Amino acid sequence: MPAFMEPFRIKAVEPIPFPSRAQRRRALQDAGFNLFRVPAAAITIDLLTDSGTSAMSAAQWAALMVGDESYAGARSYQRFEQVVRELTGYAEVIPVHQGRAAERILLGRLLRPGDLSVSNTHFDTTRASVEAAGARAVDLPAEAVGPVAFGGDLSVPALRDLLTGPDGGSVRCVVVTVTNNAGGGQPVSLGNVVAVRELCDRHGVTLLLDASRFAENAYLITERDPAQAGRPPRDVAREVFALADGCWASLKKDGIANIGGLIALRDADLARRCRDQLIAVEGFPTYGGLAGRDLEALAQGLLEVTDPDYLRYRAQTTRWFGDRLADAGLPVLQPTGCHAVYVDAAALLPHVPPHRLPATALANELYLAGAVRVSELGTLVFGRPDPDGGDDLPAPRELVRFALPRRVYTKSHLEYVVETAAEVVAKATEIPGYRVVEQTGPLRHFTAVLAPGEPGGPAALPGRPAPDPTSPPRAPH
Ligand code: F0G
Repeated sequence: MPAFMEPFRIKAVEPIPFPSRAQRRRALQDAGFNLFRVPAAAITIDLLTDSGTSAMSAAQWAALMVGDESYAGARSYQRFEQVVRELTGYAEVIPVHQGRAAERILLGRLLRPGDLSVSNTHFDTTRASVEAAGARAVDLPAEAVGPVAFGGDLSVPALRDLLTGPDGGSVRCVVVTVTNNAGGGQPVSLGNVVAVRELCDRHGVTLLLDASRFAENAYLITERDPAQAGRPPRDVAREVFALADGCWASLKKDGIANIGGLIALRDADLARRCRDQLIAVEGFPTYGGLAGRDLEALAQGLLEVTDPDYLRYRAQTTRWFGDRLADAGLPVLQPTGCHAVYVDAAALLPHVPPHRLPATALANELYLAGAVRVSELGTLVFGRPDPDGGDDLPAPRELVRFALPRRVYTKSHLEYVVETAAEVVAKATEIPGYRVVEQTGPLRHFTAVLAPGEPGGPAALPGRPAPDPTSPPRAPH
């Protein structure tokens, strides 16, 4: 008996490209050495994100056919509303096209200039919405020393100090992100949400969940908290929702669909204000920027995602993948969560200083070695250009994220990634750093143009001219 296997069989297939080594070099160069600019046609295994990349079930594809596309009061909305109410216990259910729309609408109604929003970690789009409202985002992750079961927890002592200190009166909301994506995909414990709720009650602060990966968080609670062992993950998720005043979610994750998001609240007045804004920017409140068929797929996905067999497979896959990548020599952050394996690029590439982007260097090398695409979560994403024109201000960590789309890749696909990683590890000391040639704004990583090596120093790809930053990315031929 294998330790685990995919709890589904495959009914529809999609071929994957196998670009040659020469094609990979050309594609990366044409993309300005930025994997976001590489066309998917030049990717063999795409682990850039688990967002919107899921495979839908036969039941979800079937549900698309019964989508009700009425502008107002669609049957598909009613089904979606019923599933979300049953799951979360919140009466007010507002669909949106994706997570960041929910954040912009909800946080824009809730926060006033000068307010504070406190979180275990605000995801970057969440932080952008807090700041767009003129408020300030404060991250208070619990300080973990070594591997811990619930590395996503919010620091309760730090929250208490903030609430009882001089800035306490400015705290408008606490946001618990489950699981904590920006903090290594680690879960938040039930006890932590209980403790945060108590503090919020005492200080009259609204408690919200960023519930984008609520089912994975609930499953990890049943695995890691002996008091919750054996409980159905859906029950645990309900208990977590019950502790908060409302939530938003990107349903491109645990909705197991390709698009969608939601706001769900207890407060009818806040919901009314959100709907007023929704009509201006997303659409009528019973479709919120989605098609009726999308709402059907999401309603079905939200039922499937708490299946214990699916969640067990999901956690086991990620653990197995993390262990194999560690065997291949990558410094893997342990314990792994569900949606991704995170690797410490700085530990693998000590010869590449932060301003030469070690996480980008590792990600690009994985692409060159096997057309595997992962994402950098290091100085390119979280660092900042030095206002005085010096080296970039480094990010706290140089991580690379191998995100796992839901139900898409099999164990043999991931074995291929492990082999590719072993090839990269074998020549780690030769991997060059990168420098930014062109960049714009705080979300520079999506569009930046890079070049390998030191300015004026040897290039990583000898014999190739520097990339032309004005040429659009194109597929290899
Ligand atoms: N909150 C969390 C925790 C997220 O991980 C994301 C997206 C969002 C909100 C925004 O949702 O993309 O639907 O607008 N995370 C993706 C990722 C992009 O790759 O981790 P969205």
